[in-house]
Amino acid sequence: MMKIITFEGIEGVGKSTQIEKLHNYLIDSGFTSSVVREPGSTPFGEDIRNLLLNTSHDISSNAELLLMFAARSALVDTYLKQPKTDFILCDRFYDASIAYQGYGRGLDINFISQLIKAIDCPVPNLTFVLDLDPIDGFKRKSTDKMDRIESSGIEFFNNVRRGYLELAKNNSSRIKVIDASLDVNDISDQIIAYIKKIL
Ligand code: TMP
Repeated sequence: MMKIITFEGIEGVGKSTQIEKLHNYLIDSGFTSSVVREPGSTPFGEDIRNLLLNTSHDISSNAELLLMFAARSALVDTYLKQPKTDFILCDRFYDASIAYQGYGRGLDINFISQLIKAIDCPVPNLTFVLDLDPIDGFKRKSTDKMDRIESSGIEFFNNVRRGYLELAKNNSSRIKVIDASLDVNDISDQIIAYIKKIL
């Protein structure tokens, strides 16, 4: 049975590094694994991603939410409904909409939950929230130009972080919070220990 593992957290917490490490671990252990990112991964979703991150667009919070779900719907239909690999590692999934558009932008979380159901999102087998103070996250990111969402300010990211931590508290068997200030290999060891429990 295909297992969906999602990685969440604010910018600069090291999601891509950890996804790559887990992907390599799974392949070395004899499993098949693929990696997708949100918004994106399908050609349609990648175009939506460009729209969403483009700083020259002034997008309302509702438009932002609905575009995230348009891209997500394509991802669910293309990759998550017909499993082709043992594992799918997702660089963000629907928890991101609750954290960013719900807690961050202040949109109605019940409405977001209805969208999650409406497009038939599968529930991930495990979700890792890499947790870090937003100030440290932005220090770690390269200082080249920030995209539209990254330009939302520190208060926004404090709310997003709080959203992720509350989601984790309310879904503690699925969502594991990991201290992203730890050494890269310590984080990877913690992730692999959780993965071993569901193999
Ligand atoms: P990233 O994948 O390069 O971090 O860029 C994606 C951006 O989109 C990031 O700022 C988080 C944001 N995002 C949302 O606001 N809501 C969502 O549902 C998802 C998947 C991403």
